[in-house]
Amino acid sequence: MSVVERELSDLQGTGEPASGEAVPSNAAQKPFISVSEIEVVYGNGTVALKPLSLDLFDDAVTVLLGPSGAGKSTLLRSLNHLVVPSRGTVSVRGLGTLGNAQTLRAHRRGTGMIFQQHQLIGRLTALQNILIGRLGHYGTWRTMLPMPEGEKRWALECLDRVGLLEKALTRCDALSGGQQQRVGIARAIAQRPRIVLADEPVASLDPAASRRVLGLLRDICRQDRIPAVISLHQLEYARTFADRIIGLAEGRVVFDGPPAALTKGVLDRIYGPVSEIAD
Ligand SMILES: Nc1ncnc2c1ncn2[C@@H]1O[C@H](COP(=O)(O)OP(=O)(O)OP(=O)(O)O)[C@@H](O)[C@H]1O
Ligand SMILES: [Mg+2]
Repeated sequence: MSVVERELSDLQGTGEPASGEAVPSNAAQKPFISVSEIEVVYGNGTVALKPLSLDLFDDAVTVLLGPSGAGKSTLLRSLNHLVVPSRGTVSVRGLGTLGNAQTLRAHRRGTGMIFQQHQLIGRLTALQNILIGRLGHYGTWRTMLPMPEGEKRWALECLDRVGLLEKALTRCDALSGGQQQRVGIARAIAQRPRIVLADEPVASLDPAASRRVLGLLRDICRQDRIPAVISLHQLEYARTFADRIIGLAEGRVVFDGPPAALTKGVLDRIYGPVSEIAD
C-alpha cells in the first residue's frame, strides 16, 4: 500500500463527521503552539500587538474576536510568521522556536490557511485548485508532470468531505461564494495540516452559507484533532462554533475563555459599551 493510499484509508477509518461535542481537553497535553511575549510594531510605527502570550492546544477551535484594528489578523499571521513579531517567540511542538528558514518552511507546510477571498483560480476546476495546493509538497519539477492518481483520489476525498464531490470538475468561477469557500477548506485540509488558520473566512457569505462553512470547518478540525484559529466579526457565530474565544482590544488580550463566559461586561471590554449586541 502506498503512503497516500494508507493515509486515505486512515482518513476513511475516522468515521462520521463529529456531531459537534467538544473533545475533552487534556490538562497535561503540550501546546501545539506557544506564543511567548510577542509584540508587533509595523514599519510605520503602529503597535499592532502589545506583549502577548498564549498557548494553543490540539483540541480547540479558537475564535479571535475584536473590533476592526484590534490585531486579529496580525496575531493570526504571527502564528506562522507571515508577520514576523518584533519581539518574543512562537514555538511549535516538534519544531521548536520559529526562526530559521528550515523550521519556518516545515511549519508553513503544515499550516492550512483559509482566507476571506479564498484565493482560488477561477478558470480552474475545484479539483485542479486542490491539486495546485498540493504542489507545495513537491519540488517545482512536479509542475511539469501529470499528478499521480493517488493525489487525485486524495483531492476528491477532501472535496467529498466538504460535500462538493459533484462539483470537482466545475470551474471555480461558476461556484457560489459559499461553495468556493468550501473548496478553500478542502484545499487547506488536502495539505494534511497540523493547524488551520482562517482570517474572516465567512466575511463575504450570507448567514446560511456562513453557518455551513463554519460548521464544516469545526467538525473537520475536531474530527482530525487539528487546532483551528479563526478570526470573526460575528459574535453569534463565535458563540456557536468556538470552544475558546480570545477577545482582543487595541493589541491586547482582554478575554480568554469559553463562549459561555462571554458576558456583557466582557463584551464591553472587547468592543467598548455595546449593550445593543449583548444578547
Ligand atoms: N501592514 C501594515 N502596516 C502598518 N500597519 C498595519 C499593517 N497591517 C495592520 N496594521 C495596523 O495594525 C493594527 C492591527 O491591524 P489588524 O489588521 O491586525 O486588525 P484586525 O483586528 O484584523 O482588524 P479588521 O477586523 O479590520 O480586520 C491596525 O491599527 C492596523 O491599522
Ligand atoms: Mg483583520
